[in-house]
Amino acid sequence: MTKDTTRRGTARTTRPLIVGAIAMATLVVAAGTLALQHSSRGAMAAGGEVNVYSYRQPSLIKPLLDAFSKETGIRVNIVFAKKGLIERMAAEGANSPADVLLTVDIGRLTGAVRRGVSQAVSSPVLEANIPPAYRDPEGHWFGLSRRARVVYASKERVKQNTITYEELADPKWRGKICIRSGQHVYNIALFAAMIAHHGKEKAKAWLKGLKANLARKPSGNDRAQVKGVYSGECDLAIGNTYYMAKMMLNDRKPEQKKWAAAVKILFPNAQGRGTHVNVSGAILARHAPNRTNGIKLIEFLTSKRAQEIYASVNHEYPVREGVAASELVESWGTLKADPLPLKTIAELRKAASELVDEVAFDEGPSS
Ligand SMILES: [Fe+2]
Repeated sequence: MTKDTTRRGTARTTRPLIVGAIAMATLVVAAGTLALQHSSRGAMAAGGEVNVYSYRQPSLIKPLLDAFSKETGIRVNIVFAKKGLIERMAAEGANSPADVLLTVDIGRLTGAVRRGVSQAVSSPVLEANIPPAYRDPEGHWFGLSRRARVVYASKERVKQNTITYEELADPKWRGKICIRSGQHVYNIALFAAMIAHHGKEKAKAWLKGLKANLARKPSGNDRAQVKGVYSGECDLAIGNTYYMAKMMLNDRKPEQKKWAAAVKILFPNAQGRGTHVNVSGAILARHAPNRTNGIKLIEFLTSKRAQEIYASVNHEYPVREGVAASELVESWGTLKADPLPLKTIAELRKAASELVDEVAFDEGPSS
């Protein structure tokens, strides 16, 4: 138990602690929660511990946390879940063992902040390593890796090699575009960026145009849209960049390699303001019992070493300047990122969600 924990008194000792450390990973599935418990090697805990709640999957996060423990001697206890972690932190309140929450999307990061489960961090390391557009000016959330929302175009049926988001509303694409639900966080952020660049009225007209160009009712995940291109249902699909790598390298579901082989990635607005990007990121928990170690962990995740792991393991773009994307990602072309601060996108998310409802986006092209 750390000094911080002791200082907070006995109430903390009675709560259900997630325990463990490095090596010998044991997967425990309970009530929809996947907890990865590392068993301790004793000496590893010399630097104390840190408790992580993660929406990000074990295969990505474990190499990062292992590297952190190795470098610092701080034991990492981690709870993985696909949903409910923010609600859990809120319900646990002052007794929450969570120090750090890891999640994806600006919407989920700011959602956690709105829920009151974060606290502000002032860290010269984070301020130096993360460009201002990718972190909260108030220090409540920090972007750790980036992903671009791009167009997957049929190699066979789409001749052009450049595109803009604006062009997706052009009638020449009537019946040709596949996209997941307009209300999904990835799309809400993209639509919020369109509002930021064009204003609400023009963004609404654009969204109507995009809806009219859909090949089918929005459904499924990003990869399902690329499958739509492969099967001939659509010519263009909207999706995040790392899914290209996940499909290309998917030995467990090799059919996805065919989906990937059918498309080329076009970076929208590459000749103009740049392509829309979103982040995965972290918040420091409001009641973090191991506050210092929590900050150390977030700082570590912006180190060169950790940024390289984000690039090589999950094929995301590093958030830190000067660290390259993976060779595979680089082979798709150079990302020119839209410099719009994510804070602005966060502020326009509600308006974007309202537009999606106003144009009945999710009812598809025929409504
Ligand atoms: Fe994703």
